[in-house]
Amino acid sequence: MTVRTYCGDFRKSHLGQQVKLSGWVETNRDHGGVIFLDVRDRSGLVQVVAHPDTPEMHKLGHSMRQQDVIEVYGEVIARDDDAINPKLPTGEIEIKISELIVLNRAETPPFAIDDDCNAGEQHRLEYRYLDLRRPKMQRNLILRHKVTHAARNYLDSQDFLDVETPILNKSTPEGARDYLVPSRVYPGSFYALPQSPQLFKQLLMVAGMDRYYQVARCFRDEDLRADRQPEFTQIDLEMSFVNQDDVMEKAEGLIVAMFEAGMGEKLQAPFPRMTYADAMDKYGLDRPDVRFGLEHIDVTDLMKSVDFKVFSGPANNGGLVKVIRVPGGNDKLSRKKIDNYTKFVSIYGARGLAYIKVNDKDDISNGLQSPIVKNLSEDVLKALLARTEAENGDLLFFGADTKDVVNNALGYLRVELGKDLGLFDEKTNNFVWVVDFPMFEWDSENKRLQALHHPFTAPYDEDLDKLESAPLEMRSQAYDLVWNGTEIGGGSIRIHKSDVQARVLKALGISDEEANDKFGFLLKALEYGAPPHGGLAFGLDRVLSLMVGAESIRDVIAFPKTQKAADPMAESPSEVGDMQWKELGLRKRRTQIDTES
Ligand code: AMO
Ligand code: AMP
Repeated sequence: MTVRTYCGDFRKSHLGQQVKLSGWVETNRDHGGVIFLDVRDRSGLVQVVAHPDTPEMHKLGHSMRQQDVIEVYGEVIARDDDAINPKLPTGEIEIKISELIVLNRAETPPFAIDDDCNAGEQHRLEYRYLDLRRPKMQRNLILRHKVTHAARNYLDSQDFLDVETPILNKSTPEGARDYLVPSRVYPGSFYALPQSPQLFKQLLMVAGMDRYYQVARCFRDEDLRADRQPEFTQIDLEMSFVNQDDVMEKAEGLIVAMFEAGMGEKLQAPFPRMTYADAMDKYGLDRPDVRFGLEHIDVTDLMKSVDFKVFSGPANNGGLVKVIRVPGGNDKLSRKKIDNYTKFVSIYGARGLAYIKVNDKDDISNGLQSPIVKNLSEDVLKALLARTEAENGDLLFFGADTKDVVNNALGYLRVELGKDLGLFDEKTNNFVWVVDFPMFEWDSENKRLQALHHPFTAPYDEDLDKLESAPLEMRSQAYDLVWNGTEIGGGSIRIHKSDVQARVLKALGISDEEANDKFGFLLKALEYGAPPHGGLAFGLDRVLSLMVGAESIRDVIAFPKTQKAADPMAESPSEVGDMQWKELGLRKRRTQIDTES
């Protein structure tokens, strides 16, 4: 019996062999009576030929249409010299058909099954099984398999145990909205789908499992963007008896292994570390893209005494005034571009984007071109040029507002400028840890503290006594790994003492009753000998989309949801029948019934 060979695996070494292959017909060409079929399976493509000297096979070959499923028996023969295709791994050979079996016929596909296909995403998702037949999508899923496999191998080699945690859960406090599942047995009660296995992995540490990992599905009902899905996968891990350095070292080993499997390149670890304070100061974002310069320059102190309210206002009221110096920006950025950047920063709440063109830095009165120089004294302008180290031909952009608005607006502007001016090589891969996050941030809408990472993250021991007096000054033992400006993972050392956990929850304004109701089981567990522990989770989909340079994480997920959290193929979410409503003890609202009838 002839064993099947994958289409993409045929080489000259097979010449003369009788072989069998199976796959989908990609093209069918008739060259002067000889029929050429390109046949593809997941490994690649091979050319098979039907000659008129086998009339029956020739006739069948002639009738083959795109995406028909066939099985071919034949001999591997060399192509004529002028027919060799150097771009194709199988390009030196072809298969001369001795028998062709049609396994199934296919309807004409709704879009071209090739990498140039420009069908809309909605359409592609509706026929995802055809979309996934495209070579690019097949490569993406094969890569996903390899990278996940490498992650498992690495963690296995480091004594991590793969433990599954429940999907039907109580709500986990990661900060997004929960997906809820109504309980039939307890009418009116709901399970929450896990936003992450956070609480369960901590309980596994209390249980003495020492090192845990899981390729874990997480669910978050949040506003979707290109790098977010309602259902996504984490490579999640937790370790006992460790400090930050121990967790970061294992996380680096893990990323090095995944990167090598996916990109065939060994990364140099350890990765550099940057404090959150430095990241905000220089880049305005807690996920800095450090492939290029254009660092922010703080000039708040210089603007306190100027007459220009746009600058002096924020400078004297706890806000920020920052500058981005664009070397040679004078020539590189037209008036129209500057106007576009002004529109761009307004997305982040900036009310304007003042600029100065430095024509001649030694001529303060005439050498600076800008709508704002008239508002600034000569001394301030001199100090500004010195602080920014401006050279002739440079352009200075200004942001003045609250800290958040300036950091965000100039943070994203910097990234945009870096891209537009081609300041970095797209092929560079830069990894940086951001460490020493603040423990809390101020939620001005609800007027209360909020955990920056999550409420189980430990503060630095030496900061603990600020918990009641100056909580916003506390730093936490949390760390994020950032790849080219995208946060790919994050974690922390956890609180393992129940009294500290209780104080932190109190600082967050979570009452004992609420805490007990939401995660009393964790608080209780901390009282039964919880070891010091910490961990981290990588967003697998994000890692993969950076590896393949996908525009959206949907391209590395077999069956993703649209931006509107729907599946156009299966048509979910969908309505359920009256019986199910009844069984679950749920009743439709009046308005729903009205719109249905
Ligand atoms: P965090 O919430 O930072 O931490 O999530 C970890 C990583 O998961 C990825 N991620 C997402 N990917 C796709 N779509 C989403 N909606 C989405 N949300 C998050 C990101 C992120 O860095 N339990 C903690 C981890 C820990 O402390 O150990 C947690 O979930 O890449
Ligand atoms: P105006 O005084 O409003 O005419 O603004 C003068 C210049 O300052 C314009 O170039 C505006 O784009 C800019 N500008 C206004 N508000 C801000 C702000 N909050 N931050 C930075 N530049 C601003």
